Amino acid sequence: MARLLIQIRGIARAFRRGVHTRGDRFTTSRPHLISVKAAPTHAAYAASMPASSAFDPELLRRYDRPGPRYTSYPTAPQFASGFGEAQLREAAVTSNGDPIPRRLSLYVHVPFCLSPCFYCGCNRIITRDLSRADTYLARLYREIDLTASLFDRDREVIQLHFGGGTPNFLSPAQLREVVDTLRQQFHFSDSRERDISIELDPRFIICLEDVAELADIGFNRASLGVQDFDPAVQEAVNRIQSVEQTVAIIEACRASGFRSVNVDLIYGLPKQNPEGFSRTLDTVIRVRPDRVAVYSYAHMPELFKAQKQINAEDIPSAEVKLGLLQLAIEKLTAAGYVYIGMDHFALPDDELAQAQARGGLHRNFMGYTTHADSDLIGLGVSAISHIGDSFSQNPRDLISWQGAIDDGRLPVFRGMRLSEDDQLRADLIQHLMCQGEVPIAALERRYAIDFQEYFADSLEQLQPLEADGLVRIEPGRITVTSQGRLLLRNIAMCFDRYLDKPAAVTAPRFSRAI
Ligand SMILES: C[S@@+](CC[C@H](N)C(=O)[O-])C[C@H]1O[C@@H](n2cnc3c(N)ncnc32)[C@H](O)[C@@H]1O
Ligand code: SF4
Repeated sequence: MARLLIQIRGIARAFRRGVHTRGDRFTTSRPHLISVKAAPTHAAYAASMPASSAFDPELLRRYDRPGPRYTSYPTAPQFASGFGEAQLREAAVTSNGDPIPRRLSLYVHVPFCLSPCFYCGCNRIITRDLSRADTYLARLYREIDLTASLFDRDREVIQLHFGGGTPNFLSPAQLREVVDTLRQQFHFSDSRERDISIELDPRFIICLEDVAELADIGFNRASLGVQDFDPAVQEAVNRIQSVEQTVAIIEACRASGFRSVNVDLIYGLPKQNPEGFSRTLDTVIRVRPDRVAVYSYAHMPELFKAQKQINAEDIPSAEVKLGLLQLAIEKLTAAGYVYIGMDHFALPDDELAQAQARGGLHRNFMGYTTHADSDLIGLGVSAISHIGDSFSQNPRDLISWQGAIDDGRLPVFRGMRLSEDDQLRADLIQHLMCQGEVPIAALERRYAIDFQEYFADSLEQLQPLEADGLVRIEPGRITVTSQGRLLLRNIAMCFDRYLDKPAAVTAPRFSRAI
């Protein structure tokens, strides 16, 4: 029997490879993981830019309210403590049961940073004690042991991402050890599509040979934090970083054969103004990274204590902030970048842009990705996993995470199993965030619902957005207009069942839309 299952899975894997090369989507027995086939309209959406004419400051200001970024649905605040180790084990074992072994994505969180950037909203620990990496890694290896044993060996790892904090707080030798450990415990895919990516703080790369060593380990994508090159802004946020050191790292990544390089910018930082930000954008465009993320500064000092060091008077007004966003969109699109959605731009030949054009873009905790239909295993403090129909999260503080591992337990502190309704809405929101549409007819078929009836409340909430020209509601589908592309989260919020109480939207746990 076991042999028969292995044979079926072998055939299925070969079938999946064939399906992928035809540019189609892989489907599984679980309804929430089945995606609609690509339609020609996806290419049109990918090509449509939020043009200057679509940039209406009055309208954008009206929609500038707090809301989730939808890297998951339901969002993390819905995870509950009733979901613990036993539930995570069950989810993992169940996820092995598919006739086609679903692929795996791995995320490793490295929390340490050498110095505090005042704007930072990430889960990080500031320390100059490099030996803290050793104690952290000892626990991480134990967590890898505990976790890997739950997954069948024929489940291929298609993506590994190191996030932080600052992953390059670890030396190349330590990073090699982590990747080697993962390779021993999981089966890494040999496919060309396999990604190993890392977030790099260019200020802390000791020498360019380190980048070559990262490539030798297998890293093929890098994301560099920049934010702004304007010296006044850098001083106000406590992050001094020269153009030269940043460009040197980007060039070293290219010379070492990295497949793509991303640069992070933020608009709305203290002391930012159109002249300085314009120079930053020109510099970035000259270097031409494959991807550029332009995040809206999320100022929530109650949540992120370091932000209390920012002088509130230095933060640009809503007017200026909008101008900075407009500048970024105009300059990047004029330079040939495609607007993917939710702060992300990519060159047209980058895989993100291509995936969007063929309807194969996906969104998870790591942002936009081309790797749909994989289970995500989060490792390290605060990391989130998405396995089968479950979400789960590790403790956000180091002591609790370490404590669980030292006790030999999987360090999960909260999570949830998605209901049928959650799965339907998650699927719908994925389509909105990635392809800019709600495929009504396909969702009706897949979930056996009458869309008008099931989403009567959502459609009512959507009416003012339709009147404002953010969406078009047509028979069989809802599409996001070029104006609506800047307000994707407001559109998705109409379908979020957990936001039906006004208090949920105004609570200071979500950043503002713009
Ligand atoms: C983990 S950091 C990047 C890697 C590395 N630690 C660095 O700073 O170079 C991830 C990114 O989150 C973004 N970010 C952090 N705090 C933010 C905030 N409050 N609002 C908007 N974006 C933020 C920044 O663009 C940053 O580059
Ligand atoms: S932006 Fe990066 S380097 Fe700065 S504190 Fe946050 S995680 Fe650390």
